Amino acid sequence: MTADVAVSARPAEVASAPRPRIFSGIQPSGVPHLGNDLGAIRNYVRLQTEYEAIYCIVDYHALTSTHSPDALRQRTREMAATLMALGLDPERCTLFVQSHRPEVTELAWLFTTVTPVSWLERTPTYKEKRQNQPEDLNHGLLAYPVLQAADIVLYKASLVPVGKDQAAHLELSREIVRRFNAMYGETFPEPQPVYTEAPVVLGTDGVRKMSKSLGNTIEILAEPETIRRQVMSMVTDTKRILRTDPGRPEVCNVCQLHRFFGGDYESIWEGERTARTGCVDTKKLLAERIAAHYAPARERYLELIAAPDRVDRILAEGAERARPLAAATIAEVRQRMGIR
Ligand code: AMP
Ligand code: TRP
Repeated sequence: MTADVAVSARPAEVASAPRPRIFSGIQPSGVPHLGNDLGAIRNYVRLQTEYEAIYCIVDYHALTSTHSPDALRQRTREMAATLMALGLDPERCTLFVQSHRPEVTELAWLFTTVTPVSWLERTPTYKEKRQNQPEDLNHGLLAYPVLQAADIVLYKASLVPVGKDQAAHLELSREIVRRFNAMYGETFPEPQPVYTEAPVVLGTDGVRKMSKSLGNTIEILAEPETIRRQVMSMVTDTKRILRTDPGRPEVCNVCQLHRFFGGDYESIWEGERTARTGCVDTKKLLAERIAAHYAPARERYLELIAAPDRVDRILAEGAERARPLAAATIAEVRQRMGIR
């Protein structure tokens, strides 16, 4: 593990220097949840002004678990609309679809030749998939982190905003890069993850990571009524049984989430500690605040999704902007490896 990278405003004297490059990828896998935003997307938005930011909707990765062409096409567009609705600005960052820059598959193949199978077999997500989808344990699942490494370094990015669940993948990306550099000469920077203040957001069960596959999500762009229902279903401090029992905000997921909505979480915590407020009040307030916070994004999302041509044009422009960077890296790598 490397230390978490703290990324803050760049000092004035370096503001005119070329901006360091960051990259992140996100799967087009259905409805965005609070974990995606607090753990990753907020950082995409924050970092797009200070860094040269490239963001990619990773449809090749999604094929390892989705085999419905219509669903994949639709979700890819929805994810683009989601990211823009949450604040990605195509004037400031490059946003595109992974398969629109297919050079990444060539780099991924070249990387497979420097990646021991044993590294891939011990990847936690692969081990999970081996358990959860034994009927579709395709080669793509094993090679998944190799394609992820190729994503990042095709653009020679050195920082990668992600949630903590991606730590093992990032570690593997670094190992692949190190090995490549050692075998063929210094070519790529070693990518480092960048985490938010909420690198692991727990689900409504209060125990496991918020995740679509676990059904414990709060869907940020859903109708306010859905958000309310999901927040009201949250498990709070399990030791607080009577309304008069003091609460323990440090272990209560609802209290933890209040940190990110409204600037008064300390007084909310105090209310819980002294049993001045009950869990139901605290949840109601959180539901209102989350729904209000995401209401403008929901509106923008609905507008964008009603204008698919506009979304597709933005994605096509993003892929074009990425083209020369991808071409330069592929030419360099071919040369180093002795291809032609
Ligand atoms: P996924 O939807 O799993 O492809 O995740 C997209 C991004 O959100 C990745 O950077 C993940 O690390 C991040 N992410 C997903 N779930 C969570 C969570 N529960 N807490 C923090 N970050 C998350
Ligand atoms: N594996 C990431 C996830 O599931 C998605 C991803 C693909 C990615 N390529 C990437 C993330 C490159 C960061 C950088 O969320």
